Amino acid sequence: MAKVLLLHGPNLNLLGEREPHIYGRTTQKELEQIVRTRVEGAGHQLLFFQSNHEGQLIDWLHQQRPADFMIVNAGALSHTSIALRDALSAVQVPCVEVHLSNLHRREPFRHHSFVSELALGVIVGLGPKGYEYAADFAIHQLAQKK
Ligand code: DQA
Repeated sequence: MAKVLLLHGPNLNLLGEREPHIYGRTTQKELEQIVRTRVEGAGHQLLFFQSNHEGQLIDWLHQQRPADFMIVNAGALSHTSIALRDALSAVQVPCVEVHLSNLHRREPFRHHSFVSELALGVIVGLGPKGYEYAADFAIHQLAQKK
């Protein structure tokens, strides 16, 4: 049984009510459930964490070492946080980056993510489907590793 992490950064706790024209109506709990159903269905463990505080996200990542795979939506910290980027790099867990919205159709400050260079792949703009695909990819990668 592999250990899979799902990490959510600032403001994602408000999904469902937050700017639904951009992020849709799916709540964070529902996104977690989408990933959990798939990951646990494949016989793995899913650990989920959300924080609005950079340091808490970093501390949680440190505590979860070692882990086998992670799915990360770091919210706005994707575009700003070298500290979170370094933590993601330090823990050496293969990662897929997900964003609900298509960053490249939005403001220029969202076009760069510090997470992307560490990720095996990046999914943007597909809404909740992106979480589904990320979970399926995680399961696929873990099966290859066996
Ligand atoms: C987001 C995109 C970020 O730019 C933004 O700050 C978020 C959500 C997304 O999932 O589309 O908080 O990560």
